[in-house]
Amino acid sequence: MLALSTPFASRAQARTAMEVWKGPKCGCCKDWVTHMEKNGFSVRVHDDGNTDARERLKVPIAFGSCHTASVGGYAIEGHVPAADVRRLLKERPDAVGLAVPGMLIGSPGMDGPAYGKRKDPYDVLLIGADGRSSVFSRYSSK
Ligand code: CU
Ligand code: CU
Repeated sequence: MLALSTPFASRAQARTAMEVWKGPKCGCCKDWVTHMEKNGFSVRVHDDGNTDARERLKVPIAFGSCHTASVGGYAIEGHVPAADVRRLLKERPDAVGLAVPGMLIGSPGMDGPAYGKRKDPYDVLLIGADGRSSVFSRYSSK
């Protein structure tokens, strides 16, 4: 991994490595991966579902969504915006990670043409080391 020294690899400088577990057929997960890639993350995708990864990364099922990611020692569950992941990695709180439980329309990966202009308000939750959540950021419907 660290031995990449081809010109291609050096052009991909400063990308943040992330791993994602998702179902093989889920389109919204794929769109979320694209959102992360556009925002400077280098994503390794596993297409065999996220149930095991969610458990391993200690995300309580109550916060479950369609994909689970691991980045910089944190778990990211569901359609969390890249900006929040960046903020998490900068602030580095003592926490499990971030989650947008469920599937909220208007969140990254759930905002394609298929959803029209619909945007639901949603919160990004910080899951603390004790498994409790607090609001990390808030997105309104506008
Ligand atoms: Cu989804
Ligand atoms: Cu999905």
